Amino acid sequence: MTRPDYAEKIPNNVGLAEDRRLQRALESWQPNFLSWWETMGPTLPTQDVYLRTAIDVRGDGWAQFGHVPMIDYRWGIFLADKNPDRRVAFGQHKGDPAWQKVPGEYRAELQRLIVIQGDTEPASVEQQRNLGATAPSLYDLRNLFQVNVEEGRHLWAMVYLLHAYFGREGREEAEELLHRNSGSQDAPRILGAFNEETPDWLSFYMFTYFTDRDGKYQLGTLKESAFDPLSRTCEFMLKEEAHHMMVGTTGVDRVVERTAQVMVENDTDDVAGYGVIPLPVIQKYLNFHYSVSLDLFGGETSTNVANYYTAGLKGRWLEERRKDDHKLTDDAIMVDALVDGDIAQVEVSALTGLNTDLRREYIADCSGGVKRWNRILEDAGLPQRLYLPHVAFNRKVGAFAGIEASPDGEKLKPSEWAARRGQWLPTDTDKTFVRSLMHPVHERGKIAAWVAPPRNGINGQPFDYDYVHLA
Ligand SMILES: [Fe+2]
Ligand SMILES: [Fe+2]
Repeated sequence: MTRPDYAEKIPNNVGLAEDRRLQRALESWQPNFLSWWETMGPTLPTQDVYLRTAIDVRGDGWAQFGHVPMIDYRWGIFLADKNPDRRVAFGQHKGDPAWQKVPGEYRAELQRLIVIQGDTEPASVEQQRNLGATAPSLYDLRNLFQVNVEEGRHLWAMVYLLHAYFGREGREEAEELLHRNSGSQDAPRILGAFNEETPDWLSFYMFTYFTDRDGKYQLGTLKESAFDPLSRTCEFMLKEEAHHMMVGTTGVDRVVERTAQVMVENDTDDVAGYGVIPLPVIQKYLNFHYSVSLDLFGGETSTNVANYYTAGLKGRWLEERRKDDHKLTDDAIMVDALVDGDIAQVEVSALTGLNTDLRREYIADCSGGVKRWNRILEDAGLPQRLYLPHVAFNRKVGAFAGIEASPDGEKLKPSEWAARRGQWLPTDTDKTFVRSLMHPVHERGKIAAWVAPPRNGINGQPFDYDYVHLA
């Protein structure tokens, strides 16, 4: 394994210097990426930011920290170490050596999977581009930019695969990844949640908790892929993704902590007047981000996904820890369904139910956050609790797309839904209120009043470190 060479235009550990054609192709894509970053990336002008840059793919020392101007961030191409003995872990090719090239018969499907994953990465940068202007602290501002540069690198990771393995069509798709834009009328991003706005920091924390976590699960399934370069790419991306999860988890922690503190101090639930976010509003934001993220897992059943699995293109979460035959041809699973118009479950073959399997893994993981946040409320001596809404709540994809349900999973008539949705999803009033709290705090060691400071700084630095130098 070669260490990335930072003297190169595109730092990498994929031996780019030995493949002149590929190097030239990527070097000609690079200026387009940079101009996308300038026009669609973070809008707040900065001199430099205390960023983590990947320098190795192994161990604790895989990244270095330092102040860098964002435009000079070295977006590189890094694959996790190659295991020369790796074998396909599931599907009809189980036991075969992992593929180093794309098999002709699976080319279109693999390309599609890579494009869909690739499309989400720059989309989130676009969604978050204006948040710097209202950052609650320099620590948060730095985390936002860290997430942004790494999502940019994840785009590079997918573009590398498209250029290296999918020829001319791959290069065209790589261009398209810069042309589609989040929320655009003419050329929106592929998946719904990535066309929603991220207009305030509560949304940002919820997004990094719930929507980035969808990304973690998608990457987890692609890491199992028989196509080894995809597997190794995703393995390394997951390492960076852990920080994005941390930003979301602790971000919501800190909002809940601050709200709880003000509730206790003033002995009231009605804390909006004290400049913090009331628990019911936090719950509504949670309901929104959770339900749109559930949609990202697709329909409860999918023959495409069954075929991807059988072909070895996309596995299950932690495939190798599953105790079954890894072919699933004789297995069954219960999936959510509408039966005679009612919320129910039906049995389907395990292969067609794979989206449900992945969504359930994700839901179990999400409930971990809710437990954490409720412990904060409990420790503050408060009786209120947050919860995950029912899987049928506010769904636009899958079995429940055509109905409306309450967060308890009670099916509602359209008129009831219309009358009550404002109790469960952020209203314009809620959004305006949350936005009204979003005053920038760009001073060292200071923090906005609606959020508690973090317990730990970044890379052992204190909270009052100069994480960002503004322009
Ligand atoms: Fe990502
Ligand atoms: Fe992420």
